[in-house]
Amino acid sequence: MQSKNPILEMTGISKSFPGVKALSGVNLRAFPGEVMALLGENGAGKSTLMKILSGVYKKDEGSIKINGDEVEINGIKDAQRLGISIIHQELSLLPNLTIYENLFLGCELFDGFKLDKKEMIRKSQELLRKFDFTLSPKTLTKELTVGEMQMVEIIKAVSKDARIIIMDEPTTALTEVETEKLFKIIKQLKDHDVAIIYISHRMEEIFRICDRITVLRDGSFIGEESIENVDKDKLISMMVGRRLEEQFPYAEVKAGEAILEVKNLSWGNKIKNVSFELKKGEILGIAGLMGSGRTEVAKLIFGEYKRTNGEVIIEGKRVKINSPKDAIENGVAYLSEDRKKEGLVLKLSVLENMTLSNIKKYENRIKKINKRNELKDCNEFSKKLSVKMSSPYQLVKNLSGGNQQKVIIAKWLLNAPKILIFDEPTRGIDVGAKKEIYEILNELKRQGKGIIMISSEMEEILGVSDRILVMHEGKITGEISRKEANQEIIMKYAVGLAE
Ligand SMILES: Nc1ncnc2c1ncn2[C@@H]1O[C@H](COP(=O)(O)OP(=O)(O)OP(=O)(O)O)[C@@H](O)[C@H]1O
Ligand SMILES: [Mg+2]
Repeated sequence: MQSKNPILEMTGISKSFPGVKALSGVNLRAFPGEVMALLGENGAGKSTLMKILSGVYKKDEGSIKINGDEVEINGIKDAQRLGISIIHQELSLLPNLTIYENLFLGCELFDGFKLDKKEMIRKSQELLRKFDFTLSPKTLTKELTVGEMQMVEIIKAVSKDARIIIMDEPTTALTEVETEKLFKIIKQLKDHDVAIIYISHRMEEIFRICDRITVLRDGSFIGEESIENVDKDKLISMMVGRRLEEQFPYAEVKAGEAILEVKNLSWGNKIKNVSFELKKGEILGIAGLMGSGRTEVAKLIFGEYKRTNGEVIIEGKRVKINSPKDAIENGVAYLSEDRKKEGLVLKLSVLENMTLSNIKKYENRIKKINKRNELKDCNEFSKKLSVKMSSPYQLVKNLSGGNQQKVIIAKWLLNAPKILIFDEPTRGIDVGAKKEIYEILNELKRQGKGIIMISSEMEEILGVSDRILVMHEGKITGEISRKEANQEIIMKYAVGLAE
C-alpha cells in the first residue's frame, strides 16, 4: 500500500479571510482506492481546504498536483474538469427544484436547443435505482428529509465519474440504514480506484472506513499517518493538542423529586403509550435507532406536535402544552436535532444570534438594552463552548459548521429553563467541545434541572446518562440504570429483541 503514488498532493496551502488565517502551510495527499480522513477541531480549516480543492475558494499560497502535474484551480468548473467532486457540509441542493433538476444542475442535457427533460428524468431514475432509492426524480427537493437530501447530494457527486471525491461530514444527517448504504458506495468507489477525502467527527467511522488520516489544528498541518499507526487517544491528542482525560465526565448528583411526568403519551399510531418520569438533577438518556420515535416524543412534550392522547405533568401539576410557546412558558426547552434547518440568522453576528431571542433579559426599565451584559453573556458562553470566532461581532455565516452549531447551543442555554431536552446535542461537534457540552449538562444537573438527552452515540449515552430509556417502533422497550447499562443490552431493546 505504501508504494502507491498519490493522485493528489496539496502542499504548503495557505488561505486568509479578513481577520483570520484559516490555513497556513497545509499539506494533504490522497491515494487512488483509499479513503483519507481529514480531521481536526471545529474551525481547524478542513472545509476551507476542501473548498480550495473544489474551486470554491482561491488559495493564497501553495501548490496542487494531480498525478504529479501541477494544476491551477480557478473555479468549480476547473475542479470538475480535473475529476474532483464534493459533497458539501452544508446542504447545497436548491429546494425549489426537483431531484432530477438538482442532479443535472450545471450539466443539463439538451435535445437540440431544448432541455431534454425526458432523458434527464430517465437517467436520474436509473441513478436513483442504482443506489436503492425509491423516490421519483420529479419530487421537489424541499419535500425530502434532510437525510434524503444528503443522499441525493451523494448520488450527484458520485455520478460524475470523479477521480477524487470529497465528503464533508456526509453522515451527520443520515440514518443508520442510509449510513450503511453510503459505506457500501464508498467500498465500490474504492474498488474503482477513486480517491476519497472523508471529513467526520465520528471516531468509529474513521476507524471503520479510512485508510489514512491527516490532522489539522488551528489552520496548521499536524501530520499524516496510516490508520494502523494510530489509536483513538493518539488521534484525539493530535487534534486537540493534549490528551483528553475522561472523555465522558460523569457527575454524581443525588436526584430529587420528579420534575416531569409523561403518562400514556400517544400520537396516531407512531407513538404508543409512552410513560416515564424525569427527576430533578438527572440526565435521562433516550436511546434507539433513528426513526424509533425519540424525536417525536420530544416534539410532543414540547408542543410542536399535537398528542392524540396522554398527559404531561410538570412539578406535580398537569399542564396544557399545545404549542412550543406553552412549553417555554412552562419551563421546557427543546434543542432540535435538525439544527441545520433552524435557529440561525446567518447575516447577523454571533452576539446578536445568541441574545436576540432572549433580548428582554437585557432590557432595563425604559427598554434600553444593556449592551455590557449582552456582551458578557456572549463572551462567557463562547468561552465555555470554545466557539472559534474573530470577535462577538463576526457574522455567523463566516463561522465553520461546527461553530455555528455551538452558537445555537449557547443561545439556547442562555435561556436556562428547568427542563431541557437535547436532541443529538453533539452532532457535528469536535471531541474537545463535546466534552465541554457534557460538562455543561453536568452543571445543569447540579443546579437541579431535569435533562433528557436523545442520542445515537452509544458511548455518549452510556457515558453521561443516569438512567437510559430505549425506544423501538414508537414504544419504550427498556429502562436501564446506569449501573446495568451496556451496549449489548441497549441494542437488544433498540431492535426489539428484548422486552
Ligand atoms: N468565508 C469565510 N469568511 C471568513 N472566515 C471564514 C470563512 N470561511 C471560513 N472561515 C474561518 O476559517 C476558519 C476555518 O473554518 P472551516 O470552515 O474550514 O473549519 P472546519 O475545520 O471545516 O470546522 P468544522 O468542523 O466546524 O466544520 C474558521 O475560523 C472560520 O471562521
Ligand atoms: Mg467544516
